[in-house]
Amino acid sequence: MNPVLSNISSKRKPVDLFILGQFQDEKPSLQLASLEPEFAKTVKTAISKGRFTGKFGETLSAYDGSNREAAEVVLLGLGKKRSYKTLCFRKAAAKTIDLAKAAKAKSVRILLDSFCTGGVKAVDAAGIFAETKVLAQYDFSRYKSKAAKSDAPKREIIFEIMFEKASAARQAQKAVERSLTIAEGVSLARNFINEPGNILNPPRLVKEARDLAKRKKLSCQVLGEPELKRLRMGGILAVNQGSTSPASLIVLEHGKNYKNRGTVCLVGKGVTFDTGGISLKPSRDMEKMKYDMSGAAAVIASMGVIADLKIPLHVVGITPTVENMVAENPQRPGDIIRMFNGKTVEVLNTDAEGRLILGDALAYSEKFKPKAIIDLATLTGACVMTFGDKAVAVLGNDEKLISRVKKAGESVEERCWQLPLWPEYGELIKGHHSDLYNIGGPYGGTITAAMFLKEFVPENTPWVHLDIAGTAWSIGGRYDCPKGATGVGVRLLAELFTNWRK
Ligand code: BES
Ligand code: MN
Ligand code: ZN
Repeated sequence: MNPVLSNISSKRKPVDLFILGQFQDEKPSLQLASLEPEFAKTVKTAISKGRFTGKFGETLSAYDGSNREAAEVVLLGLGKKRSYKTLCFRKAAAKTIDLAKAAKAKSVRILLDSFCTGGVKAVDAAGIFAETKVLAQYDFSRYKSKAAKSDAPKREIIFEIMFEKASAARQAQKAVERSLTIAEGVSLARNFINEPGNILNPPRLVKEARDLAKRKKLSCQVLGEPELKRLRMGGILAVNQGSTSPASLIVLEHGKNYKNRGTVCLVGKGVTFDTGGISLKPSRDMEKMKYDMSGAAAVIASMGVIADLKIPLHVVGITPTVENMVAENPQRPGDIIRMFNGKTVEVLNTDAEGRLILGDALAYSEKFKPKAIIDLATLTGACVMTFGDKAVAVLGNDEKLISRVKKAGESVEERCWQLPLWPEYGELIKGHHSDLYNIGGPYGGTITAAMFLKEFVPENTPWVHLDIAGTAWSIGGRYDCPKGATGVGVRLLAELFTNWRK
């Protein structure tokens, strides 16, 4: 259910719960006294007695029947106004959902302006609120049996966002619609990723991409194994060698009529399960390796969002998809393979498979003569060690593109942090009997992996690599995401393309 937008002078009925924000050590909102005179008195007393200060997350409520807007009114502390940023608003928005659940409210009204400052404007806040409402309530319960489901009946909470100004309420409509489109994309990516490896294998990912293409009117071309062989995509074929499912390269395209404005290629790692191959991973946490297709999920889901937002640009989403298994005929450590661009690689470690499939996909992108290439991949454990789940590692060959990506990430709270691609790191992946090794030794793993990818980027093409190994999975406790896939990348790309200039 989409949030309802209203303003203070709209005619309205009482709801179950009315929530206002309150900054720390500031006077209560001017509207409070006129909307809820009785509660305003309680608030005044509570503040003067130091019972309520407005610290972030603090609440003061009244449900004695003296309210006008709702059966229960809650004042939610927002912390200090000076340090209040968009992220604080996002967290406050998530808190209002928790409050609604705790109060078992079916209908909730929030006075949005009481959550806003000069830095966090009501119109943008409405969009963020709508997005957070969807993402925080995301749930992947399709494999829970019916009995378990009915234990916790799900009721949709109807949220009403009330503005002080009618004009703001009107302007916010567009922002809300845009946010809901993006949140739908993030949820789709999360669904793909949370599906286990026995269900979502490479052929299933192909089917999902085809279905999405049909729904969103994208063009979709899938290169199957015969084509991959004909094109000599040695990286993709070698990694999938141990799998009983065929590998594919999925190509989704949006906005072919905008080619004159330039083409952007998105490339996503689609390893639907990564056992490590013969260089087997330890069993601890191996089940999580179903999320090794998070880059592909982000690219495919973003293509849907890009179509919905009618982005006036030619965007090509390229996702190689494979399964890295141990089986009858897997690749061996030491195998030397030839990649799509002709470079040879000695596979010292079969667990460094992502770069092999991405190398082929990046080289293939040359076909589209892109103005920019952005790849997303759960590429290295080293990235998780460095940044945990707090930052995307960004590396690339074009400072301008890097800073645009970083800026987009910052504004949607998918923060990126840059690592260097100095030529000295390239020495570590130089091959002995081949052009390249697929690993660069124990140190600087995120960088040497990106150095490897760089060898396959078409010449003179701006390129950015996003290592999302840490950020693609939430261990739980995140304000806008339950334990599991986060869908990182979708919001960043939507933001980037919304503000794209040639
Ligand atoms: N998919 C993994 C990277 C990964 C590890 C993502 C942990 C998320 C959590 C990737 O294919 C991999 O195994 N990388 C190896 C490379 C190494 C063998 C050079 C790694 O990072 O350990
Ligand atoms: Mn691996
Ligand atoms: Zn992997």
